[in-house]
Amino acid sequence: MAEPTKTATLTIDDKVIELPIYSGTLGPDVLDIRKLYGQADVFTYDPGFTSTAACDSAITYIDGDKGELLHRGYPIDQLAEQSNYLEVCFLLLYGELPTGSQLKDFEQRVTRHTMVHEQMHNFFRGFRRDAPPMATMVGVVGALSAFYHDSTDIADPWQREVAAIRLIAKLPTIAAMAYKYSIGQPFVYPKNSLGYAANFLHMCFAVPCEDYVVNPILAKAMDRIMTLHADHEQNASTSTVRLAGSSGANPFACIAAGIACLWGPAHGGANQACLEMLREIGTVDRIPEYIRKAKDKDDPFRLMGFGHRVYKNFDPRAKVMKESADEVLNLLGVENNPTLQVAKELERIALEDEYFVSKKLYPNVDFYSGIILDAMGFPTSMFTPIFALSRTVGWISQWKEMISDPTGKIGRPRQLYTGSAFRDYVDVRHR
Ligand code: CMC
Repeated sequence: MAEPTKTATLTIDDKVIELPIYSGTLGPDVLDIRKLYGQADVFTYDPGFTSTAACDSAITYIDGDKGELLHRGYPIDQLAEQSNYLEVCFLLLYGELPTGSQLKDFEQRVTRHTMVHEQMHNFFRGFRRDAPPMATMVGVVGALSAFYHDSTDIADPWQREVAAIRLIAKLPTIAAMAYKYSIGQPFVYPKNSLGYAANFLHMCFAVPCEDYVVNPILAKAMDRIMTLHADHEQNASTSTVRLAGSSGANPFACIAAGIACLWGPAHGGANQACLEMLREIGTVDRIPEYIRKAKDKDDPFRLMGFGHRVYKNFDPRAKVMKESADEVLNLLGVENNPTLQVAKELERIALEDEYFVSKKLYPNVDFYSGIILDAMGFPTSMFTPIFALSRTVGWISQWKEMISDPTGKIGRPRQLYTGSAFRDYVDVRHR
């Protein structure tokens, strides 16, 4: 870390404590409180981390007020429109856009790792057929450390690299297998002549008894969905991966922890919850009832796909996703899809409503992604697995960045204890 740019002075009773302030390239400065406990015997208190920077990172930057998302400095709309998912993976992992030959080499390395160990097919068969794909993925990704134990030594940079490539390559295969298993169809092996996104669609929708040609426009839309989800700074699942990794746990276990965290409806599970909500609303005339519910303090209902901890302006990913939704639905001739009509009207009404305007609640990335995935033929239970496979590169890039920092420490938050003070044990006969 560079030298502090300023200092803040904190006075507690008669103690005066100087706290260094550091500046990043962009974004708010940070107040360094690492020595605070030692000097003043107090902790800082910030449940939900609303004012806490838990690490320094050079990967992704978000300006929530401007609605800006940069990967290694490049804005997400440029990447989504001009780049592609594997190139963005390279950028996130290694810090720079690849040259032509670097990209070709990276694509080959990823492609060569798309198959999973054949024994994993039997592992899948241990799950119930009706297991949701997300549930299967949490288990199977954790089990990668049993199948690929030769890349779990985190002290070895080469093993870290192999683990990263394996995860990026195998996650689509695992997600597609989880889907095929849940619908009782045979697993489809990866087809390495196809691009990353097309290969995923092929593994999900092909069957051995007939040819399946991937529509290039749908492959491009899938690639864009993956790109838009590739990384998002220190969100809940990424912080989970970092915290798990800070103990020295292997990368496969850490990514499984990230997938588990992503599952919740406040995070990656929102895409599934959002489409289910749009379907439940069903028709445009029922929207006011749901807006009322969302505004009612006594009703736990929230408009899924709306709001974000960091974005207090439009989520830039949602803008691109909305354009993609129009493109895909036009292509498939389902632009009059009732779910899309409800989504568009809901967005219009919410953006004009005083409650949503004053709380700066805008549609987020999950608002439109589900509509595209639904039109492509995915069941809602696959939406969060697709988010998980797309985010794997972000998780593993953040994990690699953390592991290669020699000053890294195990993550160990403290607490404000509110339980009983000291008391003596009382034998059961006297209670
Ligand atoms: N519908 C209705 N009211 C909302 C919503 C919503 N979707 N989101 C926030 N609010 C209200 C909330 O009730 C609170 O009101 P008040 O100040 O009167 O108590 C205020 O807005 C601030 O909300 P918060 O819960 O303190 O904000 P947060 O930063 O902790 O939560 C969030 C962010 C994304 C969890 C939340 O907006 C939410 O639950 N949204 C719906 C779920 C969703 O779409 N999640 C996907 C996020 S983007 C993709 C990803 O990260 O995975």
